[in-house]
Amino acid sequence: MYTVLIGAPGAGKGTQATEVKPEVGPHLASGDMFRDAMAEGTPLGVRAKAYVERGELVPDEVTVAMVLERLGRSDCAVGALLDGFPRTLGQAEALDRELGKNSKRVDQALYLAVPEDELIRRLSGRWICRVCQTPYHEVSQPPKTAGICDKCGGELFQRVDDTIETAQKRLGVYFDQTAPLIDYYRARGVLDEVDGSLDVGRVRDQVLAAVRRRKSI
Ligand code: AP5
Repeated sequence: MYTVLIGAPGAGKGTQATEVKPEVGPHLASGDMFRDAMAEGTPLGVRAKAYVERGELVPDEVTVAMVLERLGRSDCAVGALLDGFPRTLGQAEALDRELGKNSKRVDQALYLAVPEDELIRRLSGRWICRVCQTPYHEVSQPPKTAGICDKCGGELFQRVDDTIETAQKRLGVYFDQTAPLIDYYRARGVLDEVDGSLDVGRVRDQVLAAVRRRKSI
């Protein structure tokens, strides 16, 4: 099954992807791919850096090529969980075309709905594991030991684009360019909306229920 996770910055896409991954397939997070490339200093990372740090979208041609290359590998032959992609109508159409070549399609678009003030609160308190990418929150989801990942012992860091100013810019970009995808997938009959404002466990229960419902169709 091919599932795309849609939601504003801070909606909990990365958090919930960790929970759903075993049910759906490999977790492909475009933001993590860009951050890895930036950390390694590859040509892709150098190109993406300025956009990511300004809170803008990396141009479609760069992003589509990167994600579709990863999606074409053998571990994604029967399904994948796409987190942060697509983020524009152009990216959604490119994904449809690619999957359509093998008579596949996006089976589910899971939309995590969260009010704007909660999004800012979450982004400004976020810490992420440098090794396994697990997100934490200093108030609502703190690690057992400050600065250390519970799961793998990796070092936690704060993203350069999680300042209040850049987070607000990212939200503006989301409402302008990504929110129209909600109607795009609704029109295709694959949209499932989940209340992402609840605590992590209650959101997870809704997400898993929605995934299992789609799998049984
Ligand atoms: P990306 O890394 O994809 O960032 P994003 O979409 O802005 O999403 P976030 O990672 O900020 O939030 P999330 O929804 O995963 O929330 P999380 O689970 O961490 O993209 C970064 C940049 O890369 C973009 O700005 C762009 O430049 C570029 N890029 C990436 N993809 C692109 C594309 N397709 N096209 C073009 N450019 C692209 O949770 C957030 C916090 O909240 C955490 O602290 C967590 O612990 C906490 N939390 C989560 N759930 C809950 C809950 N239920 N209750 C309380 N706290 C919670």
